[in-house]
Amino acid sequence: MTTEVSGERLAGLARYGGVHLLDEVGSTNDYALGLASKHTKAIVVARRQTNGRGRFRRQWFSDDSSLTASLLLFTNTPGFPHSSLVVHLAGLALSRAVDETVGLPTQIRWPNDIMLNDRKLAGILCEGRRNSIAVGIGLNLNQDSLPEDLPDAVSLRMATGKQWDKLYLLENFLREMFTCIEKTAKGESTQVLADIKQRSATLHRRVEVRTLLRKHVGTVIDLDAEGRIVLRTDSGRLVVLGAGDVRRLT
Ligand code: BTN
Repeated sequence: MTTEVSGERLAGLARYGGVHLLDEVGSTNDYALGLASKHTKAIVVARRQTNGRGRFRRQWFSDDSSLTASLLLFTNTPGFPHSSLVVHLAGLALSRAVDETVGLPTQIRWPNDIMLNDRKLAGILCEGRRNSIAVGIGLNLNQDSLPEDLPDAVSLRMATGKQWDKLYLLENFLREMFTCIEKTAKGESTQVLADIKQRSATLHRRVEVRTLLRKHVGTVIDLDAEGRIVLRTDSGRLVVLGAGDVRRLT
């Protein structure tokens, strides 16, 4: 990165893995997964992505004012959580990191969005290859405004009127993420799941869930141990879903 980064910030990040600060990259997730052969945890931060993507391979908007980063982890680490849980741990960690950094309460919209006042602040995309997993986070940080085609999105700057330190927020996220992973490894995943549920914007809500194949409407009655939602549909059926786009109806 051409802008100056303080030694303190770099040292803070380096506690969690090798640090790669880039001016431009296709996708930080791809870059992180490309480092997997080194078998070392890594943190990749980019000022710009030319091919950033979201879930279902949707294009992901970001610019220099965004926090755009990926954390490379290894699933064969002893005690590592089930891969399907990682996105939920990252959601909890990012929600907590925003609260700690900014002092504003955020919620997690299942499965991977961080919401502030019902608007999307951040998205998380976890992608795996063999025994590695890239946890990609895209957070709207210092934008004064966002593109018109994202009317439901918000940045921390828009919400607070203040400028925020990208790498400080990232360091808080990393600390929270590794705390969640360690707790899971110690057998405390029930507590972690309870913390995720407590911040959920989806649990106990009437929702419409669109999956690749169909649409379900009903009330979310639980989040199971693998991070799937349990939906009681309007026709009274119980449906367990591991992926989908949620729209809240209440
Ligand atoms: C979503 O809401 O669909 C998830 C968006 C995830 C975007 C981040 S930005 C850093 C990382 N690199 C990518 O290409 N995507 C993720």
